[in-house]
Amino acid sequence: MIPGPTNLSEQVLRVMSDPMLGHTSPQFYEDYKEAQILSAKLFGSQEDKTVLFSGSGTFGMEAGISTFLKEGDRVLSLVNGYFGDRFAKIAEIYGIRVKTIAFPDGVAADVDTLKKELQTEKYDAVSMTHIDTSTGVMNDIVSLGNIAKEHGAYVFVDLVSSLGGSKFKFEGGPFDYAYSASQKCIAAPPGASLIAISNALLQRSNEFKPRSYYFNLKMWLDVMKDPKIYLTTPTIPVIRALKIALKELFEEGLEVRVRRHQEMGELAWNFAVSRGWKPVSSKPSSTVIAIDLSLPISAAVKEYMLNKKNILIATGIGPRASNIIRIGYMGNTDKQLLLNTMKGVEEAVTAVKRLT
Ligand SMILES: Cc1ncc(COP(=O)(O)O)c(C=O)c1O
Repeated sequence: MIPGPTNLSEQVLRVMSDPMLGHTSPQFYEDYKEAQILSAKLFGSQEDKTVLFSGSGTFGMEAGISTFLKEGDRVLSLVNGYFGDRFAKIAEIYGIRVKTIAFPDGVAADVDTLKKELQTEKYDAVSMTHIDTSTGVMNDIVSLGNIAKEHGAYVFVDLVSSLGGSKFKFEGGPFDYAYSASQKCIAAPPGASLIAISNALLQRSNEFKPRSYYFNLKMWLDVMKDPKIYLTTPTIPVIRALKIALKELFEEGLEVRVRRHQEMGELAWNFAVSRGWKPVSSKPSSTVIAIDLSLPISAAVKEYMLNKKNILIATGIGPRASNIIRIGYMGNTDKQLLLNTMKGVEEAVTAVKRLT
């Protein structure tokens, strides 16, 4: 019950133990192509504008920055926790002039603050995180994205902790670059990065040279058109496992899955509030909850949960990390499993407090 990597189905596990296929084998080409078609469908985008390749969520982040932003560009980074900040840090490495707006703990980015900033300063791009895994804050990325577009900025959005567990549609939305990863709501192993790119951003990138070989998404788009092109060796078992996980996701149905995640989010949030714990986010999110226990006991609670309940939860990241536990309900989880986890945490908190 950590916020990724998440539990794998039996079929996904099984394909990981198949004999190794060559990256030039017809079977792998087929698997890769199918995984790519399904990831484009998951984004609500088109295959020729999505990239699926080996890497983690940070691959998507850095590849987007290095391929589509140039030195001297101005980027406004909306920060609701650790991962929004990571985008800003990487952009700075590439010589991009970044301004961050860090929203107070637990508060989603608000449209008025964004509007005010964009009326004062001109930015080439705005970056935002759908759900920041460190705080569980979920942003209204459509409203924020619309404001950014009205002011002529490209919109970069981090879907690492939301794609496959939260409503999203790239086409027709105010987005230019979206990235996610295999190991969270999609319930595949870590090691595949999923990316969607707008036409406008693609055109812009013709104006300057890419600044990386591995991260050059224009080369990866060529591979997507024809997976027989060799660029670098893919993480073959991961991509094959991702294909199975994506098929399972669409068998469940995206809408059903999104609703399931929303309901789990409400369950976790209501449980925490009813026990007098303080969720870091002021509203429930669809995939992860961070809870402030108001005492530095998160490591002990985590240990109790693992030893006594055989359930792995996460501790906090960032400020007050030692007070915070995080519980993920992504991918192959259900309300019962989540409820057992919450009850386990209740027992753990009581036991740990008694000892301290
Ligand atoms: C919201 C968010 N963005 C980015 C990342 C980075 O992804 P990765 O660890 O797969 O590189 C994470 C990782 O948990 C994340 O939760």
